[in-house]
Amino acid sequence: MSEDRKQYRVGIITASDKGSKGEREDISGKTIMEIAKENGYITESYSVLPDERDLLENEMKRLCDGGQIDLLLTTGGTGLSPRDCMPEATIAIAERLVPGIAEAIRQNSMSITKRAMLSRGVSAVRKKTLIINLPGSPKAVRESLAYIISELAHGLDILTGRDGECAR
Ligand code: MTE
Repeated sequence: MSEDRKQYRVGIITASDKGSKGEREDISGKTIMEIAKENGYITESYSVLPDERDLLENEMKRLCDGGQIDLLLTTGGTGLSPRDCMPEATIAIAERLVPGIAEAIRQNSMSITKRAMLSRGVSAVRKKTLIINLPGSPKAVRESLAYIISELAHGLDILTGRDGECAR
């Protein structure tokens, strides 16, 4: 990583009823941590929460409003299961939507599996934090991050005021 590239801080939230009770290992959250580190991010926060909308909202607000992190990556809760509510929680606390990232994730994922159309993830901004919902499976997390991660630093540069220019 070039020396002038800021080391952005990442927070990770896994939405999983079983994971929050210790009944399932959170491989997806750990996959995010691994990929973030490989790409020069510092993991500042990591939590596994049940699929409870108020808990998810409160944790996202706490992380964004505390100025602790620049990028919040979530996994899980984006499908059609009755308790899946990560997109709804994200929208509830969002100040601005960033649809292009969610669209890019689904567009790329559709080239892998048409079931990607079933993933409801959104991307948004709260204060100076970029929030991205990733699908729940480790495979989908890996495929989605591989596709988008190269462009996130530019967005964070602009969001955090480090850069105002888009000229390449
Ligand atoms: N996206 C990628 N890149 N790779 C995948 O294997 N799985 C799909 C889809 N998105 C998948 C993917 C499947 S099987 C489903 S059911 C939807 O995500 C919803 O899963 P989610 O609940 O993890 O969002």
